[in-house]
Amino acid sequence: MHLIHSVREAQARSDALRAAGRRLAVVPTMGCLHAGHRSLVDEAHRRADAVWLTIFVNPTQFGPDEDFERYPRTLEADLACCREAGVDAVFLPPVEELYPDGAQTWVEVAELTRPLCGRDRPGHFRGVTTVVAKLLLATRPDLAVFGEKDFQQLAVIRRLARDLPLGVEIVGAPIVREADGVALSSRNALLDPETRREARVLSRALEAAERAVAAGERRRAALLRVVAQELEKAPRARVDYAELRDPERLEPATELLTGPTLLALAVVFAADGGPVRLIDNRVLTPHPSAEDRPCS
Ligand code: PAJ
Repeated sequence: MHLIHSVREAQARSDALRAAGRRLAVVPTMGCLHAGHRSLVDEAHRRADAVWLTIFVNPTQFGPDEDFERYPRTLEADLACCREAGVDAVFLPPVEELYPDGAQTWVEVAELTRPLCGRDRPGHFRGVTTVVAKLLLATRPDLAVFGEKDFQQLAVIRRLARDLPLGVEIVGAPIVREADGVALSSRNALLDPETRREARVLSRALEAAERAVAAGERRRAALLRVVAQELEKAPRARVDYAELRDPERLEPATELLTGPTLLALAVVFAADGGPVRLIDNRVLTPHPSAEDRPCS
């Protein structure tokens, strides 16, 4: 497994793969790898001949009061995980490689980044899209794999790859969960036992909404009530958002759900070591009502 530290080497190796007619897939991460990241690597292997993973804790996507310093860094374990997953190369650039002294160039996606996490974390997506563009320009892959766990991020990156001629296909992969339903996240490591237990309310709220939809509920307000009831069961949780939106354009859902609708949650837990913000989501598919069905 190669360890690549410079953009120049990444580009040279990528060009050599392309010249040899091999398809390259890249999995961008911030490290602290878990089974969710591993599933992205597995998906990459199914679609390409060579798989690279990038590890870079990107300073520009953290706000001034966020957890950049506290973000877990576990390089040795991450490299072992990559070797085991059959990753061909890991790109781990030092900060100066991606943000040279005096850097002032940003890549920004407009409307899609305004709601949800964009509203709670100003500047976050500008940091994400800037670093993802840099990582893709450095590694020049045929495709890049991202998790649906960060649903808005995936939508934003799809838009970025459509709007800029990067020539990279963006592939989404499903959320991987713990046995108790909690979505795997590097930030779960920051929860104490009590808040880790409370973190189950996110997936439980999604399941409750899904059950309601399966039972025929299509009213937005009623579904959000079901969600709120579950989230209230966690006393150390503060809800940043719990919203129903169109899964592509991320516009607010209509009063009555008519098609697949994103239920997106963000909750901040008052953990012993400081606040920990977790997100989760599910696309709900309501039954078509009698009026929506075509006449037979
Ligand atoms: P990070 O949080 O390390 O996540 C890297 C990738 O793993 C993302 O595409 C994310 O959606 C995916 N992922 C995380 N948890 C997952 C889970 N439980 N199931 C499936 N996929 C999961 O997201 C980032 O890093 C950064 O913003 C990045 C895109 C690397 C830019 O810095």
